[in-house]
Amino acid sequence: FLVEKGNHRHFMAKEIYEQPEVVGHTLTQYLDMVAGKVRLPFEAKFDWQALSRLSVSACGTAYYAGLTAKYWFEKLARLPVEIDVASEFRYREAPLPKDGLALFVSQSGETADTLACLRYARQEQQHVLSVVNVTTSTIARESDVVAPTLAGPEIGVASTKAFTCQLTTLACLALAAARARGAITAEDEARHVQNLIALPGLMAKALELEPQIEALARELSKARDVLYLGRGTSFPMALEGALKLKEISYIHAEGYPAGELKHGPIALIDEAMPVIVIAPHDALFEKTASNMQEVAARGGRIILITDARGAAECGITPEATIVMPDMDPLFAPIVYALPIQMIAYQTAVFMGKDVDQPRNLAKSVTVE
Ligand code: G6P
Repeated sequence: FLVEKGNHRHFMAKEIYEQPEVVGHTLTQYLDMVAGKVRLPFEAKFDWQALSRLSVSACGTAYYAGLTAKYWFEKLARLPVEIDVASEFRYREAPLPKDGLALFVSQSGETADTLACLRYARQEQQHVLSVVNVTTSTIARESDVVAPTLAGPEIGVASTKAFTCQLTTLACLALAAARARGAITAEDEARHVQNLIALPGLMAKALELEPQIEALARELSKARDVLYLGRGTSFPMALEGALKLKEISYIHAEGYPAGELKHGPIALIDEAMPVIVIAPHDALFEKTASNMQEVAARGGRIILITDARGAAECGITPEATIVMPDMDPLFAPIVYALPIQMIAYQTAVFMGKDVDQPRNLAKSVTVE
């Protein structure tokens, strides 16, 4: 059916702005908001408690959603997660545990490499769970259990709302696994559910940062290279930030775990390369702040995405600080994804690039 841009200049902008709503829909599907519990709309055809490991594969932005979920499954459910990009997993001949669970994340449900991994997992007698946006897709059809994301049709080639809906679905699955494995108390579950319910409101607040991000994008458009840094769940956000910028502005960008800075990328720091640091004030903040100070000491240009406390305690004066609303750090990536998307979007628009149809990229990669 026909999808229109409405008042937006591009589908990507429309899809960025739809996120509070579609994440809200996705949450309604996976939570019993009144009882403060997770409620999966399907019967799990596998036993969370019996699992020794979860194997995840996906491509592109969906892979970064899976990488973020690894932190959640491991922390909340104490379930070890192995994650690979699908094009590697499919040829690795990975041994898979008996009665194991393989999880696939895909917006389109048609990505060739992800589908090949699913078929490999089947052949190895794994249970197959997929997080997909298109529920009529091949990946959905070939899965034992489908956990749909309710992002609605995504037209922009660079994934935005599908990504935050994947994260939302995966957060709920991690909570369901945590409860089934006896890894969290009912009080913890209720607290996490409250934090999830708060997300759409926080996302709406994050969208109000757009004018500041527009100004920042003018500066970024002059850069040849941009480095993104983050720790913990902010590390996959750094990777996603770099991917988004590359995809639509064609500026070279790299995402790195902040702690790896001294093992290489620090050699690149100079006054020409912006360093975007994603660092909510969480348990790892001080570690990331010390990495930022190393960048500042070498004359690097820092753009810090944090909250009020992080801005006050970072110990440096960044070139720009994007101050996000306060929130519980665990599911913060679902909100921090928004300024990251807006940075890429505004930079590409300012440079006059075709953001909805970037060169050489396809929305769905159905060939190897
Ligand atoms: C392409 C798209 C990306 C997407 C990736 C995986 O590269 O341009 O935006 O993340 O495929 O697609 P999927 O449909 O499997 O999520």
